[in-house]
Amino acid sequence: MTPTHGWSPERARDVLDQITGPGPVLMALQALQEEFGYVPAEAVPFVAEVYNVSRADVYGVLTFYRDLRQTPPPAIQVEVCMGEACQSVGSRDLRRAAHEVIGDDGEVRDVFCVGNCALGPAATVNGRLIGRATRDALASCLDGEGASS
Ligand code: FES
Repeated sequence: MTPTHGWSPERARDVLDQITGPGPVLMALQALQEEFGYVPAEAVPFVAEVYNVSRADVYGVLTFYRDLRQTPPPAIQVEVCMGEACQSVGSRDLRRAAHEVIGDDGEVRDVFCVGNCALGPAATVNGRLIGRATRDALASCLDGEGASS
């Protein structure tokens, strides 16, 4: 996910104005992350005021869900599935290889089932799904993303 804009309260207000339905704090944080690439610290009091909840409520939601980022995302994000099906076919080794291949160029995160169990181990590179992922497949995909490997 690539941020489309830097933080601005006016843009955040436009994003939040499009949210309807229950669970507005989580939906608001997801929408702001979609817009800005992460949820900046300034968003916490902003969302609290818009939805008339405490900052602690917003911060609690923000820190509970690991998919919500509080810092800008790195240029390269690799996610390796640590679900049981993928672990049974080598995702632990793949995670180790991902760290070696990506080096300091990005971030490797664990995820738990990306719905590709039959083609495990599964990984994503900047959201692009790789089935039966190998070290070479990750390196090849990272080359396409401009990373050194
Ligand atoms: S367990 Fe890895 S994709 Fe389902």
